[in-house]
Amino acid sequence: MSKVLYIKANVKPAGVSRTFKISDKFVEQYREQNPNDEIITLDLYKEGIGFLKGEDLNSVFGPKTDESRKHPILKYAYQFAEADKYIIAAPMWNLSIPAILKAYIDYVCVTGITFKYTAEGPVGLCQGKKAVHIVTRGGGYSEGPAAAYEMGDRYLRTIFGFFGITDFTTISADKLDVIGEDVEAIVKNAIEKAEEKAKNF
Ligand SMILES: Cc1cc2nc3c(=O)[nH]c(=O)nc-3n(C[C@H](O)[C@H](O)[C@H](O)COP(=O)(O)O)c2cc1C
Repeated sequence: MSKVLYIKANVKPAGVSRTFKISDKFVEQYREQNPNDEIITLDLYKEGIGFLKGEDLNSVFGPKTDESRKHPILKYAYQFAEADKYIIAAPMWNLSIPAILKAYIDYVCVTGITFKYTAEGPVGLCQGKKAVHIVTRGGGYSEGPAAAYEMGDRYLRTIFGFFGITDFTTISADKLDVIGEDVEAIVKNAIEKAEEKAKNF
């Protein structure tokens, strides 16, 4: 039985968010295929994820004890480390990810929980796990010269690699705000890809 963390990073709710339209279908299909797996939904806005404060830094970089598990920030890092698979649903915001998702990454990037320092440099403690990032974008950033401006999926892929998670798939729906594009068809196509991927995730 696997533990799946469904990380939702969008201020728009289900039914309005096109990103969630695709990611919810992924989860639905995954649940069908893996009825015994535990899927934990983590809606970052509902959680009220905030920015790290000065007083948090000692906890993030200091020694970890049994008490750490109850810490209001470190608990997210433990939850992340205990998961086997990650589904991240986040639209492109200003060429990157919504700030709340970056704030969440700051919560889970904790020494001794998701990575550690060694004489040879930092080592990820989440090896062998897998992630899928479901993203929608107003413009087209998956290919061509504009791909160089895409810093959200690239950041997630890199930081997940830092945790040791190198099995990282991206499912994207681009050009959803471009006038004249068949937006419905683009979303439908992404849903099909998501459902296909969910069968073997
Ligand atoms: C605050 C904000 C910033 C955005 N920045 C970009 C951007 O830099 N590039 C882009 O292509 N689309 C951008 N968009 C458009 C969204 O990525 C696009 O509409 C996406 O499909 C929204 O997903 P949703 O329907 O799940 O909210 C932005 C949208 C918002 C609300």
